[in-house]
Amino acid sequence: MKIAILISGRGSNMAALAENRQGFDICLVAADRPAAGLGIALQNGHKTALVDRSTYSAKQEHEAALADEIAALKPDWIILAGYMSVLSETFINRFDGRVLNIHPSLLPDYKGLNTHARVLADGRTHHGVSVHLVTAALDDGPLLAQIELEITPNDTETSLSERVLALEHQLYPAVIAALSEGAVHIDGLNVRWSDTSRLSSVTGGIVCFPPLD
Ligand code: GRF
Repeated sequence: MKIAILISGRGSNMAALAENRQGFDICLVAADRPAAGLGIALQNGHKTALVDRSTYSAKQEHEAALADEIAALKPDWIILAGYMSVLSETFINRFDGRVLNIHPSLLPDYKGLNTHARVLADGRTHHGVSVHLVTAALDDGPLLAQIELEITPNDTETSLSERVLALEHQLYPAVIAALSEGAVHIDGLNVRWSDTSRLSSVTGGIVCFPPLD
């Protein structure tokens, strides 16, 4: 299975995917701005592309250029890993909806930015990470998996973000490995797991979706 990864920033999830490739290869790491993660991808020997949003006058033109770069490599899945733009339906449809995102919250709660600070400000007792199919709405789309952790009284925004990121780095490769093995099936917006064993390897949190047998 071939994946193309889209980033906008430091690229730690992209690096975790590169380190934990099981059943998939990375055919492209593309960014919409001069992201630090592009340097890591180059060091790791991946093909990279910078399709800089700031050099296009319209979002539509930028997306079309990005989609052309990706389509040329024929990936099976497009994996958003800290990609900071909402993709349009045109883009998503061009790839038959085969686009995944990871988000640092228990969706549908806390879509958008600064999730750790908002969760703490609200006095929540639990937080986590979600992997979901991408639709044209922000941090929306059916879930593939979620891991939950308990917030401790000592947690700060920094500690919480570190704990959640450690979960992200385990969960994303596990979900994509499961996809490559046919253990999770996607049909349009329907998600069905036939074998959840990949998810039991995640430590530091509890799988709260899908329910494990
Ligand atoms: C991660 O927390 C990811 O869940 C969110 O953006 C952040 C990207 O971090 N969508 P990195 O660039 O992968 O380090």
